[in-house]
Amino acid sequence: MRVLFFGDIVGHVGLTAVSGVLASIKEKLHVDFVIANGENVSKGKGLLYKDYAELAQFADAITLGNHYHSKDAIDGYIKYADKLVRPLNLLHYEKGEGSRVFECKGVKIRVTNILAEAFMNEAVKKPIDTLDKLVSDCEEAIHIVDFHGESSSEKQIFGFMFDGLVSAVIGTHTHVQTADARILEKGTAYMTDVGYCGAYDTVIGFDKDSVIDKIVYDAGRIYVPTEAPTCVNCLLLDIDEKDGSVTYLRPYYFINGKERNYGESYL
Ligand SMILES: [Fe+2]
Ligand SMILES: [Fe+2]
Repeated sequence: MRVLFFGDIVGHVGLTAVSGVLASIKEKLHVDFVIANGENVSKGKGLLYKDYAELAQFADAITLGNHYHSKDAIDGYIKYADKLVRPLNLLHYEKGEGSRVFECKGVKIRVTNILAEAFMNEAVKKPIDTLDKLVSDCEEAIHIVDFHGESSSEKQIFGFMFDGLVSAVIGTHTHVQTADARILEKGTAYMTDVGYCGAYDTVIGFDKDSVIDKIVYDAGRIYVPTEAPTCVNCLLLDIDEKDGSVTYLRPYYFINGKERNYGESYL
């Protein structure tokens, strides 16, 4: 089973960029199942229904993160949104699902979203306890976990704790791709952060001047550019359908739809 995972999509500009990249590589790479993190799609925070619906046209599963509720409108549609996976370990939110089983080519794929604790503000149940309980109750061989957090060491600890128990622990939230994608000893794919999909030459997807004005001078409003050169960060995984282990993995990086290596300057 070949899975492609897109990191945090920031703004509609990111959605369009992912759609374009996917159209050009999905068949070439023989991708079976697409997962995308949608927590920043609607103007940089949260996910409105119209954006969910647009993303759901090309993503098979959509995960979230700390911005799961940045647009209240999610309350109105989450129970009908059968591709949406919000954080499983929220203490004060009951709507929707934090772990879902999808079917692709007759194979079950479980997708789970978990919020980390370090440097995060949400009230959550302990991530390790939450996933521990889930893996002891579930039977699917293929289980992909989007672990959404700020701390690289917390994410690495989580990866090692669940090596051999889930197919992949894929980090999201920082929007910056880390150079540590690997298959752990017992077959679990791990990456501290996949990186984001959105406007290039920005501060994690947000207009760089607006971020500097706001953060440094407390002036104006931070915004996502509506049109800009784009970048797309994703991770490709080949998963053994019998035991759920990952046999191959490779991060991809695109600027304006063209595959690039990190370090190559676009400007
Ligand atoms: Fe994000
Ligand atoms: Fe986040």
